[in-house]
Amino acid sequence: MSSTEEQQFPVAHLRPTLDEQFSFRSDVSNNADNMALDASAKTSLQSFVATEEWFQKPLVVVVIGASGDLARKKTYPSLFELYQHGLLPKETMIWGYARTAKTHLEFRDHLHPHLTPGQIPTSSKKLKDFLELCYYHNGKSYGDNEAYAAMLGEITGMDTFNAKDANVLYYLAIPPNVFAETVATLEGMPNAVVQGKTRFVIEKPFGRDTASCQALLDGFKGLGEEMQFRLDHYLAKPMVENLATLRMANPFLENMWNHEHVESVHIRFKEPFGTQGRGGYFDQYNIIRDVLQNHLLQVLLLVAMELPSSLFDSAGDESDSFRQAKIEVLERMPPIVLEDALLGQYDGYKDDPTIKNKDTNCPTYAALRCFVNSKRWKGVPFILEAGKALDQKVVDVQVKFKNRHPFPSNMVTIEVQPKPSMTMTAHMKPLGGASGTMDVTTTNLTTDYSFDGSDDILSKPIENAYSRLLLDVLRGHQNNFVRSDELVRSWEVFTPLLHQIERDNIQPVMYEYGSSGPSSRPAFMDEMVQANMKSSL
Ligand code: NDP
Ligand code: BG6
Repeated sequence: MSSTEEQQFPVAHLRPTLDEQFSFRSDVSNNADNMALDASAKTSLQSFVATEEWFQKPLVVVVIGASGDLARKKTYPSLFELYQHGLLPKETMIWGYARTAKTHLEFRDHLHPHLTPGQIPTSSKKLKDFLELCYYHNGKSYGDNEAYAAMLGEITGMDTFNAKDANVLYYLAIPPNVFAETVATLEGMPNAVVQGKTRFVIEKPFGRDTASCQALLDGFKGLGEEMQFRLDHYLAKPMVENLATLRMANPFLENMWNHEHVESVHIRFKEPFGTQGRGGYFDQYNIIRDVLQNHLLQVLLLVAMELPSSLFDSAGDESDSFRQAKIEVLERMPPIVLEDALLGQYDGYKDDPTIKNKDTNCPTYAALRCFVNSKRWKGVPFILEAGKALDQKVVDVQVKFKNRHPFPSNMVTIEVQPKPSMTMTAHMKPLGGASGTMDVTTTNLTTDYSFDGSDDILSKPIENAYSRLLLDVLRGHQNNFVRSDELVRSWEVFTPLLHQIERDNIQPVMYEYGSSGPSSRPAFMDEMVQANMKSSL
């Protein structure tokens, strides 16, 4: 695209809230005009948010599981990013809760390395001020009534903080096996402490299967659906948010986006490292529950859904049409069967000292074929593939189109990370090639979708998925969170396979650390696409 106006136009028309205009990256270059646009858009977001009711009230954020990996790597850095952008209320306190004993000062020291330049460019004054908002309290367990009561007592006892009017955000950065006791205990806390809104952020995986998901949902009913924010951070990755716009705004893609033209859709997640001390959690959940049932499935739903005719209701507010469209895809997805699965485990996985069961059959790699039995997608294989300890770091969507004989097929690759971009293959007659032949040469058309400007955090849009989602929670925007009926349906697609793997002790194929996965992978991939093409003839 040649001009900034052209790049901004579709965004402004499709998603016209200030929030979206601010946070959406539509420009792909770093020229001076675009940088100026970013800066003014940011100013408007801050001034817009500043007029909202929640922003005028005090805020208490309580990070449950604050001693853990997610809290230090994602939750606190994101809160810090919002703080730096002036997107937290003037009166804000952030409390951490976990079983590990730490003083406030020790906890601040623990956070410090994760908030320093290199991680997030910043000034030391801002960092110091932010750390002074952070407090810590430990308890014996996540159902420790007395400890929570003592923490809330400390919060309300502070002379400098008007806790009575505060809104409270509980962020559950804990393993799913302690979700239920945590919520039950917090729900039972006396309400007199705070009179504002109490919201809960709950991480994935939400349960282990359909029944446990349903049980958790039942246990959380008392909180109210609108107060629960079931977080899947993939939903706020810029390129994932961009999927619907790419389709809506580009008829050359959308018109081809169906079984007549598409041969297969392949959604890949590859990480070049293993479980890295998270084996205790991972071995209970495996790669299917950790990545496929949530992150990759959400991407599939956005690729496959029917585009809603409007994203806004008659009052101009964001409607629920997006989430409804995703559920309609799920309703057309039959459960995945073992014959359509390739499961692997990397050599050395069991050596992780945090894994107790040395006979574990836990897959660290899975490729699963699924179908969407809708008019649009009938017969098209969707392959979800995820693995730890593979040869590269990449998450992408590869849409392969049917070929027009005698030419090879075209492919659109939408890379979510590490370098958000879209690449389309195009075939051309080789320059200078002999006339009268049908030879073609293939070339790539690539557009870059990442920010390539200054390192100064305040001149950047907020791209970090956790920061974007936290701001949505504070503002009460539910669209980028997973609805309860969506969750139940999503587990129904995976549960029969998960149960069969456990019941029949299905053994994964071993693969080398740093390889491209099990050696049978290429044959499996071919079979999953070829067998399907034959059956759809
Ligand atoms: P951790 O294993 O680091 O657990 C967080 C904290 O919970 C620990 O510091 C520990 O605190 C406590 N804890 C750990 N295991 C248990 C247990 N069995 N029983 C009771 N308490 C326990 O997990 P993460 O921080 O990695 O993940 C937390 C949640 O976030 C999970 O639901 C995970 O799926 C999700 N998530 C994590 C991501 C990541 O990158 N880490 C990314 C996306 C989602 P203490 O001992 O002090 O009480
Ligand atoms: C988490 C998984 O949900 O997502 C991790 O629990 C995985 O196992 C992580 O590493 C990947 O997130 P990202 O944002 O680094 O792609």
